[in-house]
Amino acid sequence: MAEKDKPGNAMWGGRFAAGPSAIMEAINVSIDVDRRMAQEDIAGSRAHCEMLTATGIIGKADGEAILDGLAMIEAEIENGSFPFRREFEDIHLNVEARLKELIGPAAGRLHTARSRNDQVATDFKLALRNAIDGLDLRFAALQTALLGQAERHASTIMPGFTHLQTAQPVSFGHYALAYVEMLGRDRGRFADARARLNESPLGAAALAGTSFPIDRRMTAAALGFVRPQANSIDAVSARDFALEVLAAASIASITLSRLAEEIVIWSSAEFGFVRLPDEWTTGSSIMPQKRNPDAAELVRAKSGRVTGALVGLLMVMKGLPLAYSKDMQEDKPQTFEALDALTLSLAAMTGMIETLALDEAKLKAAAGRAYATATDLADWLVQNLGLPFREAHHVTGADREARRGEEVAARQAHFGTDAERRAQDHGGRVLRPQRREFRRLA
Ligand code: ARG
Repeated sequence: MAEKDKPGNAMWGGRFAAGPSAIMEAINVSIDVDRRMAQEDIAGSRAHCEMLTATGIIGKADGEAILDGLAMIEAEIENGSFPFRREFEDIHLNVEARLKELIGPAAGRLHTARSRNDQVATDFKLALRNAIDGLDLRFAALQTALLGQAERHASTIMPGFTHLQTAQPVSFGHYALAYVEMLGRDRGRFADARARLNESPLGAAALAGTSFPIDRRMTAAALGFVRPQANSIDAVSARDFALEVLAAASIASITLSRLAEEIVIWSSAEFGFVRLPDEWTTGSSIMPQKRNPDAAELVRAKSGRVTGALVGLLMVMKGLPLAYSKDMQEDKPQTFEALDALTLSLAAMTGMIETLALDEAKLKAAAGRAYATATDLADWLVQNLGLPFREAHHVTGADREARRGEEVAARQAHFGTDAERRAQDHGGRVLRPQRREFRRLA
């Protein structure tokens, strides 16, 4: 087939020149996400410019013009007038293009001894460091809310569960403090990630470093990094810092999801342990009686998205050879989305915990049901009658069965069908001797 006869060409070939470039822009552009690293980008440029001036790599006048221009851009970003333009692809080129409009040719000296590769790694690290610091305050607020409930309900008795079966009575304070501990470890994981990411990529340039006599310690210190990253190829290739933050976020989101699940269960009519105030529930459009714990359900669901972001970035990075590949641009959308989801979840959970009203009578009644004190009885037999624990466990279990048999028998006596009478026989024959055995011992 001749080239000109290929099918399809006649259909869309006329727009070919315009089509692919527009599509190229659509797939290539990152400014929509990058704009949230605008402050960090300015900070990085400022540190780089001061270093270029201090080392004599650029002249003082140019350096000052650049710093003035960066201050203007920062003000534009703050007051919302900065023109974020898709044709300049990302935040780095947007800032540089605007700088040129504001100060002229001196702007062209800022990118000396720098690449967008070390620039973007720097921006992203700074943004994650800020995000971690913000999250830490939110974790602390949730811990404070839980501590408040723990103090209020230090002696409110409730059933503790294993397998979601009534296990042993505990206090609500004891329960709430379990989450305080979990959240403390969640904070610790973020703190670990923060310490490891706090090294500066600046100066790595594209991957090989630079022939200019830069001072990497100076830029690192100006940006609050502990030191420059040791290896320039690593500095532009690594995204394990983001993976680590997402791993910490995923684990923390699972803590929140479990607490959310407790709230969903506890606020159901079947449990009735707690009541969420109106502000944290929604009604049903058809069932007038409903008070749905939507916020708790959404916290539970957000953990799926956060964990999805971790898996997403793992897959982006999986097969990438060193050093930078454009694949790595896909690191930021899901990371920021996950951190936003976690931030919102922490805020919602803090609000719910602060306003959770416990039904103390219901909790206490539930704690007394389903033989919740059987372990205490077994312990009593060990402590007062000197039984080996295993035997005390057996005897207590037999007594529990006997009581269950008696309950069944009482019900059967009341309702009395054939099947029920058979059950009563069973209860009588099998379970009564065990009951006697217990009486003998006690
Ligand atoms: N927008 C890019 C990113 O987020 C910045 C780095 C671009 N580097 C490059 N060599 N094209 O990853």
